[in-house]
Amino acid sequence: MKKIAVVTGGARGIGNGISRALHEAGYLVAANYHSGVETAKKFHEETGIPIFCWDVSNYEACERGIAEVCEALGGTVDVLVNNAGITRDSMLHRMNPEDWTKVIVTNLNSVFNMCRLTIPSMRDKNFGRIINISSVNGLKGQIGQSNYSAAKAGILGFTKSLALESASKGITVNAIAPGYISTDMTDAIKEDVKERIKAGIPLGRFGKIEEIAHSVLFLADEKSSFITGAALSVNGGQYL
Ligand code: CAA
Repeated sequence: MKKIAVVTGGARGIGNGISRALHEAGYLVAANYHSGVETAKKFHEETGIPIFCWDVSNYEACERGIAEVCEALGGTVDVLVNNAGITRDSMLHRMNPEDWTKVIVTNLNSVFNMCRLTIPSMRDKNFGRIINISSVNGLKGQIGQSNYSAAKAGILGFTKSLALESASKGITVNAIAPGYISTDMTDAIKEDVKERIKAGIPLGRFGKIEEIAHSVLFLADEKSSFITGAALSVNGGQYL
């Protein structure tokens, strides 16, 4: 039987690549999205992957969204990829409370919401793969990203704790910490800052979406059963 995979923020950026890779590998994929209706529709038309709209920062919305996915795909979630994330970059002395809160609830509360709501059925069937997308900047910090780095570092602690709680239940919980990947999010960085960042990456380039998707496939695989609580860096050798 095909396994069911849910990818939050699964219709654009890195999530788009993850959804496609899981679909091609034979999973029944549900791609969540929130804003960006047109992008999501185009993604669905191109791939045939079903799309589901809900706000991952809202617990009740996640509850409704997951119920809808399970109904549509005819089972419970086997693989959860918590990928949805936003940036609101600014130096802390200029950051407003809204930009702090928005990033924390979207990037970190969402991981709690989605895991809290899917872990009971994974425990019941003694199988699950949870893959949380953190960031190199959650490991090392970044100028202008105190909110984003805090959320992404929070994901790492959360991942390790849930991995311990789930170890006896056949559920692995891992994080991937991507470096700078070519997406709309990194395109928005000012050119001079981008060049400076690139100079700090030993491979001399930004990563490709497919390179993150490949790591997700690896961790999602049934045979990756002895890897849990890990934070896999996929960042071109960036200095930590
Ligand atoms: N490395 C070194 N110095 C940096 C830097 C960097 N990456 N980014 C900014 N600085 C320095 C600037 O040179 C500047 O220094 P001086 O005051 O000495 O001139 C100082 O920090 C302030 O920077 P700006 O002049 O650019 O100030 P600003 O207020 O106009 O903009 C900023 C601040 C919004 C943080 C902007 O610098 C920026 O966008 N930086 C990039 C932040 C970043 O890396 N975001 C990642 C987005 S992608 C992502 O998040 C995905 C992922 O997981 C990796």
